Amino acid sequence: MNLSVSVDADALARAAAEQFVELARSSILARGRFTVALSGGSTPRRMYQYLAATPLRDRVDWSRVEVFWGDERGVPPDHPDSNFAMASAALLDRVPIPGHVVHRMLAELPDRATAARDYQLEIARAFGVDEGGQPPSFDLLLLGMGSDGHTASLFPGFEALREGRRWAVSVDAPQRPPAARITLTAPILNRAREIRVLVAGADKAATLRAVLEGPHEPERRPIQLVRPENGRMIWLVDQAAASELQPAAVAPAGGAR
Ligand code: 6PG
Repeated sequence: MNLSVSVDADALARAAAEQFVELARSSILARGRFTVALSGGSTPRRMYQYLAATPLRDRVDWSRVEVFWGDERGVPPDHPDSNFAMASAALLDRVPIPGHVVHRMLAELPDRATAARDYQLEIARAFGVDEGGQPPSFDLLLLGMGSDGHTASLFPGFEALREGRRWAVSVDAPQRPPAARITLTAPILNRAREIRVLVAGADKAATLRAVLEGPHEPERRPIQLVRPENGRMIWLVDQAAASELQPAAVAPAGGAR
C-alpha cells in the first residue's frame, strides 16, 4: 500500500499538485500527451489552485493536457455544485488548455443514461479505441473519498458498483442534493496508470482506517473497488484523516510507502 501523509489539507493539495506536474511531464515525454480524470471536492479545489499559480503552472505543457471527469452532478455547467464549474474556476480557465480537449460530462441532460453512454463514446474517440472493447488508461485519475466510503459517485450498495461492462453510468446519489449524477465505473477506473486518492479531515479517519485496514467489503466501502490492474495507486492523506491508522502504516510526513 502506498500512503503519504501530509501535515494538513493545504500541504496535501500542494503535494498532489506537484505530483500532477511530474506525471504530466513523464506522460508527455512517453506518449505525447497527458490524460487526466478530475474529481470534485474541496481538497482537489486547492490542488487546482496550486496548479493554476506560479511556479507550478509554468512547469506544465498545457497544450498537451486532455481533461475528463470521474463524476459529475446533474446541474448546469455554471452551477456552484458542478464539478466542471469548480475545475474551470480553479484551474481550466486560468491555464492555456485548448477547449476541445476538455471533456465534461453532460449530467444536466434529462436523459442521463444516454449522456453517460455518450460520455463512453467520447472517451473512446479521444483515446482512439473501440467503445465496445477494453477501456483505455487515464495517465492520472484523481479520486476523493466520502465519509461513507464512496468515491466518484459510486455509493454503498448501489448497482453501479457491480457494473462490469459500461465505463460510465447514471446514478441517483443517496445523500445531499444534487442526487442526479454520472459516474465512471470500476472497469475504467482500474485501467488508470496512476491513481491519487485525496483524503483530508478527521471526519474521514474512521472510514480510512476501515478501508485500509478492514476487510474487503466494496459494497459497504465502494472505494475498495479501486484496485488498478497495472497502475499505481497512492493515498495522499492529511494527518487528521490518518489519525486512526496503525502507526506502522503511516510514513514520515511527506513520504510514501
Ligand atoms: C463529488 C466527488 C466525490 C468526492 C468525495 C470527497 O463529485 O462529490 O467526486 O466523490 O470526491 O465526496 O469529497 P471531499 O474531498 O470534498 O470530501
